[in-house]
Amino acid sequence: MYTLLDPRNFVVFITGATSGFGAAAARRYVAAGGKVIATGRREDRLAGLQAELGADNCHVMTLDVRDRAAMEKAAADIPAPFAGINIVLANAGLALGLQPAAEADLDDWQTMIDTNISGLVYTVRLLLPGMIARGGGHVVTLGSVAGEFAYPGGSVYAASKAFVKHFALAIRSDLQGKNIRVTDIEPGLTETEFSLVRFKGDEGKAAAPYAGTMAMTAEDIAESIFWATSLPAHVNVNKIQLMATTQAIGPFDIYRDKPNG
Ligand SMILES: NC(=O)c1ccc[n+]([C@@H]2O[C@H](COP(=O)([O-])OP(=O)(O)OC[C@H]3O[C@@H](n4cnc5c(N)ncnc54)[C@H](OP(=O)(O)O)[C@@H]3O)[C@@H](O)[C@H]2O)c1
Repeated sequence: MYTLLDPRNFVVFITGATSGFGAAAARRYVAAGGKVIATGRREDRLAGLQAELGADNCHVMTLDVRDRAAMEKAAADIPAPFAGINIVLANAGLALGLQPAAEADLDDWQTMIDTNISGLVYTVRLLLPGMIARGGGHVVTLGSVAGEFAYPGGSVYAASKAFVKHFALAIRSDLQGKNIRVTDIEPGLTETEFSLVRFKGDEGKAAAPYAGTMAMTAEDIAESIFWATSLPAHVNVNKIQLMATTQAIGPFDIYRDKPNG
């Protein structure tokens, strides 16, 4: 008989809980008896999630992870029933655009850096001391297969996820002896609002990556997050890299300007 952690003891702080993986993870943890602090910018979505999951199980905070002062305030303002955070799911993030590097919008690049890198490090840095003081916890970051495999038009997004991957590995070294686990979740093709955000609301373009194939779902990713955090405290899953069965890595791209033969 293998004993997993009791999910009724989980108190999970989630960034990006208004959609996709974050919302699915909130539902997964609460369904298992845990409590969540669900955050994001869209207040109406957070209110809907709280109505669905119950205010005793789901506390909501409207915030923008790029706003360091707001993040500091949020970390200091957790109400008592939710104060025992033992899982931080640093999930909020986005891709914007798919243009080649020389044509990409610099504002898009800045937004990805501010969200995927700065927002993520604020989240982790501000919530770590509390978990250490309480004797342990788990940081789960949302990387991507893009952090491992480059693709055309993915430059800053991919680089931001490479940052996440390495940040997750690096902080493990600093957390030796603190009973804090760190896991980077690195998904591939998963159907959420991710593509709609990348293509700025263009539904046609957003649907294309998922057309005619079976992508993963937000629930698939939430389950892997839940599993990694449920393992006994002496086990650290460094990373989980997932792809849809229909997705694989392509051949190297070789530019050819010499006539054949
Ligand atoms: N879907 C994929 O194929 C895929 C693959 C690999 C990795 N990922 C990563 O997984 C994470 C979740 O993506 P998803 O697929 O679930 O996308 P999604 O459905 O678009 O959800 C993204 C979430 O991030 C939040 N967010 C974005 N910017 C924010 C900000 N400045 N402040 C606070 N929250 C912010 C959004 O909330 P608000 O808009 O309400 O603020 C939303 O809840 C991201 O880090 C993404 O890069 C996704």
